[in-house]
Amino acid sequence: MLRGKVIITRSLAQELKVPVKPIIKIRAGNIVVDTRLIINNDETRKLYILSPELSRALFIKTKKKLKIRYDTEKNMLHIGPIIGILTASIPNKPEFGPKSTQAELIYLSKIGQKMQAQIFIFTPTGINWAAKTVKGYNYKENSGGSGVWTASTYPLPDVIYDRISSRKSESNYNNTREKLKKLAFSSYFNPSFLNKWDVHQILFNNPELRPYLPETKLLDKENLEDMLKKYKVIYAKPVDGSLGRKIIRITVDEKKQTLKYTVYVRGKFNGQATDATDFIKKTEKNREGKTYIIQQGIDMANYKGSVFDLRIIYQKDRHGEWRISKKFVRLAPKGSSLSNMSRGGKAETSKKILKYFFHRTELIEAKNQEISALCHAVAITMEQSGTGIYGELGLDIGIDKKGKIWLIEVNSKPRKTTETELSMTIVKNTFKRPLEYATYLAGF
Ligand SMILES: Nc1ncnc2c1ncn2[C@@H]1O[C@H](COP(=O)(O)OP(=O)(O)O)[C@@H](O)[C@H]1O
Ligand SMILES: [Mg+2]
Repeated sequence: MLRGKVIITRSLAQELKVPVKPIIKIRAGNIVVDTRLIINNDETRKLYILSPELSRALFIKTKKKLKIRYDTEKNMLHIGPIIGILTASIPNKPEFGPKSTQAELIYLSKIGQKMQAQIFIFTPTGINWAAKTVKGYNYKENSGGSGVWTASTYPLPDVIYDRISSRKSESNYNNTREKLKKLAFSSYFNPSFLNKWDVHQILFNNPELRPYLPETKLLDKENLEDMLKKYKVIYAKPVDGSLGRKIIRITVDEKKQTLKYTVYVRGKFNGQATDATDFIKKTEKNREGKTYIIQQGIDMANYKGSVFDLRIIYQKDRHGEWRISKKFVRLAPKGSSLSNMSRGGKAETSKKILKYFFHRTELIEAKNQEISALCHAVAITMEQSGTGIYGELGLDIGIDKKGKIWLIEVNSKPRKTTETELSMTIVKNTFKRPLEYATYLAGF
């Protein structure tokens, strides 16, 4: 069916290489319609106008001027980008913390509204598959400083940015996520949470990365016995864990020929075992049937008595290039062996800590370069594994007492906070960059 018309000035049509013909296909997100093409003889201005009927058919909100391009592969005009941020639900509380998911979504929505793009938050329940539309939300602030989520109908987007924030909701929506990944005109990035064992195997396949990986095996009696012969400290971690939860740190007491361990639950508690078999038996309840890896414990460097690791937010930019958006140090509370912020870790600038530890400028420079190269190799290796498109990664990097660099963990959906004691510009970039990358992915 023919829907309305699009008027394009001659100079813009030439620039976009639009073929001159009376009827043309035009697309917004996953909606494609036929429309009349009118070339306006204005030689000076580069403009396009959609008739109201065409705007309605494409669910384009007239207030916002979107970008236009001619897609020579699919032979159609393309208006956009249309970017949907996928979440499990839209949290809507009158009061919420600065580190809550709600604060994060509001921040994303605000940045999105300022960009030359149609950006919205959506949930699996808002999708109308037959119409190829979706109910999307944006946060409108009122004069009092508070605000409301307002809904509108949009085409199923060019790009889906997955911000589903828990593994549980992720698996609840497996079917929807798979269907979204298969949409004809969509790209999907941040495909899912990662599994520590899968990641280890993927990265271990790249010989360039092996020197950075602590030795890692699946937890069972033989593997644990083997690791206990080699290392004095071992970390046991659930493959699908995060925030330092349910990690068990094992130390070998050579004099007494026993194992001591600390289980990190909400708080932490200590235990003892005679050998691998005894450890597995005694910690069975704590492990709750989850698959665990065991890993060589790194003798981490410390800053004034606190062990630390580097946390890097690694993101693709508007040209699809990987870059470090944020790099900071997390200091563990004194006496703790985990530096997760959720376990009371404190943020510090990496500059300050690296200076304290390495002293010499050239050495710091060299370490920073090695870290950049490591991040890049990790990101590229993850992408080549065929698990999907990654737009951002969070990397936990350890430095041992000798100054050697280790890769501790890769997160595919790093938590980002809207507040920081460090730099607000950096915070803003970490939120904006994935939306810019989405614009690039959409073809603009
Ligand atoms: N092999 C290791 N050696 C030394 N410290 C480690 C090791 N593995 C983890 N840690 C400490 O525990 C923290 C949490 O471990 P991580 O693998 O990042 O799991 P999570 O997903 O729970 O964040 C790390 O940030 C680090 O401080
Ligand atoms: Mg971690």
